[in-house]
Amino acid sequence: MTSREDFKQAQHKLLVIPGPIEVTDEVLFANAHPSMSHVSPEFIPVFGDCIRMTRQVLLTKDAQPFLISGSGTLGWDQVSANLVEPGENALVLHTGYFGDSFSDCLQTYGAKVGQLKAPIGGTVDPATIEKALKSKKYKVLTFTHVDTSTGVLSNAKEIAQLVQRVSPSTLVVMDAVCSVASEEINMDDWGLDVVMTASQKGLSTPPGLSIVVASQKAINVFQSRTSPVTSYYASWRKWLPIMKAYEDGNAAYFATPPVNLIYAFHESLRQITKTAPSLEKRFELHRQASKQIKDAAKALGLNQLPVNDSVAANGMTALYYPDGLVASDILPRLGKRGIVVAGGLHTEIKDKYFRIGHMGVTATDQQRGDVNAVIQALQESLAEANLKSA
Ligand SMILES: Cc1ncc(COP(=O)(O)O)c(C=O)c1O
Repeated sequence: MTSREDFKQAQHKLLVIPGPIEVTDEVLFANAHPSMSHVSPEFIPVFGDCIRMTRQVLLTKDAQPFLISGSGTLGWDQVSANLVEPGENALVLHTGYFGDSFSDCLQTYGAKVGQLKAPIGGTVDPATIEKALKSKKYKVLTFTHVDTSTGVLSNAKEIAQLVQRVSPSTLVVMDAVCSVASEEINMDDWGLDVVMTASQKGLSTPPGLSIVVASQKAINVFQSRTSPVTSYYASWRKWLPIMKAYEDGNAAYFATPPVNLIYAFHESLRQITKTAPSLEKRFELHRQASKQIKDAAKALGLNQLPVNDSVAANGMTALYYPDGLVASDILPRLGKRGIVVAGGLHTEIKDKYFRIGHMGVTATDQQRGDVNAVIQALQESLAEANLKSA
């Protein structure tokens, strides 16, 4: 039998896409827990702890986490099916690909969706948001904290406070799939009503868990809806009693939870909330790693996609290929050096840029040397590609 101390994951290429990301041996070992009943007395407190530690990561006292088997996408379904009734208005702030997907999901459930689109690499101007909020009543405003297609970071606090001032009954929904645990989030203080995320990015766990955290205000709006919830699996009517039961230490069943993934998530949350670095230091280390990569890219003459550093994410970097070079010049050369990055995703400029993720241990565990390895591979790959094309 392998013990946790002996367990080492297999040698592999360094995964520095903006999610899934590298996970620790401890998290992978927790995922290999022997099969357990989802209603056993051993498992119930593990699930309950995950709910409590999720609140800690988002700095919220009493918001309600929903931990449900599925990917980040299921968060959009939960918001659309539980908080927006058919025919109600939703305002989506668009800073890249994921704004279109959230709009599409809201429309699928019958919402009337208006989008405010930022220019590529930018964020939506607050004055434009204010004007839209004054023009009609919106049930929800959604925005993407870090749009993974552009690496653009929106100012969550500013947006939430603007909505509270101009349209206090509108719920502020933040797609934080690419920002939880890599960007500072203060859910209660900033007044965010829903934060939705997934396990495979900053939360440093394998993919497969949808994590949605709803403020008590959002839960009240849900409780007072007049039409039926428009989903079966994503219904909070089904899941709310389950989450409450697990947190209270009782068994409950609606649909089988991903037991092993919950063990892995528990270990990652334990590392994030109960071991060094602290949450504040964790964010600082992400900022440092980000600056190192962005500075190195700049020194190599690469332009980043966000229009300036103040709107650039700290957990990822999106870079245009230099003139004359394309994806096939760079990505395979990085791969040959053991570094896996991601190509472009924004539909309008897909072939013109690539993305590097620097979340989780890649940013927080400097002894691993991940950031330096990425920078060195980038320098070598560019030099080699330039020689070839000269
Ligand atoms: C910002 C954002 N929202 C939503 C999603 C969808 O998450 P998933 O692919 O886990 O369904 C992603 C995935 O990368 C994302 O980056």
